[in-house]
Amino acid sequence: MEFLSFANHTHYDVQDPEVLLLNRVVYFYVLFPVIAIVFSCVFTSPYGMLANNVPLGTVPGKLGWMIMEAVSPIVYLLSFFVTSSTQSPQPTLTSYIFLGLWLTHYINRSFITVWRSPYRSPIPVIPFLSGIFFNIGNGYMNGRWVGVFGYYPKSHLLSGHFLLGVSIFLLGLIGNIQSDNILMKLRSNYHVDKEKNKYKIPYGLYFNYLSCPHYFFEILEWSGYAIATNSIPAFLFALCTASNLIPRAIQIHQWYKTTFIQYPTSRKAIIPLIL
Ligand SMILES: NC(=O)c1ccc[n+]([C@@H]2O[C@H](COP(=O)([O-])OP(=O)(O)OC[C@H]3O[C@@H](n4cnc5c(N)ncnc54)[C@H](OP(=O)(O)O)[C@@H]3O)[C@@H](O)[C@H]2O)c1
Repeated sequence: MEFLSFANHTHYDVQDPEVLLLNRVVYFYVLFPVIAIVFSCVFTSPYGMLANNVPLGTVPGKLGWMIMEAVSPIVYLLSFFVTSSTQSPQPTLTSYIFLGLWLTHYINRSFITVWRSPYRSPIPVIPFLSGIFFNIGNGYMNGRWVGVFGYYPKSHLLSGHFLLGVSIFLLGLIGNIQSDNILMKLRSNYHVDKEKNKYKIPYGLYFNYLSCPHYFFEILEWSGYAIATNSIPAFLFALCTASNLIPRAIQIHQWYKTTFIQYPTSRKAIIPLIL
């Protein structure tokens, strides 16, 4: 797979140990979407409303979600700042903006959302560990690219793909947070009657059209980040997100339709008017 080496079009030595490591991590994330799609054809996504007798026990919901997601910004930060053995450019203002986008997303995801959630179901150990594993590699390849290997001069800030990508990222971030807020509100009476208030039909905003608008916006967010950074790791992350969340959204959509007879028939799973 040498043709995929990110160093092919740069001045980096393809035999440098760190370039080799980064390439290997990149190869794994090329395979991930294939693994995710094959997995989704055989199993249901194994957490939340779809979790069904997943072996090896569970981790408390809020704590587990916080640990699993906090790994990503921590590894990204380390990869961004730890110096490299290769001759690489110093981070620029543009690189710091990408770092800021990543941290904004993950501080919200791992701390603010968890803190604001009335309740999160325990996470089975297998998706918990897989999430940590995924976030370590993903944080490493993206942080290393933006902070060390990529070259982002100030002029990048005025490029069409930076402006378009950041706009799409922000649109995705806002839509994702708005949708997560609606799901959280469904649980506001959770302590009163746990069983009755566990899952309800979400209504409002994008939920009038989609069962999983939060996933639609998440994919939009990382596609925007990929366009803005124009980097192989970021495009792979966007692809992995889509290959993970599209099958899960289809399964959740199906779950809603079989669980609630009054579920609105006009809704799509994840892509407006299409899927
Ligand atoms: N980048 C990626 O690859 C990736 C992967 C996964 C998730 N994410 C993002 O992480 C966030 C959370 O994802 P998730 O997979 O946990 O989403 P989710 O399954 O929709 O659940 C989100 C939260 O809302 C609750 N909930 C969901 N539907 C509900 C309903 N109908 N009634 C009441 N409560 C409901 C869930 O309950 P439970 O606690 O019972 O599950 C959970 O606490 C999303 O914004 C998603 O986009 C990103």
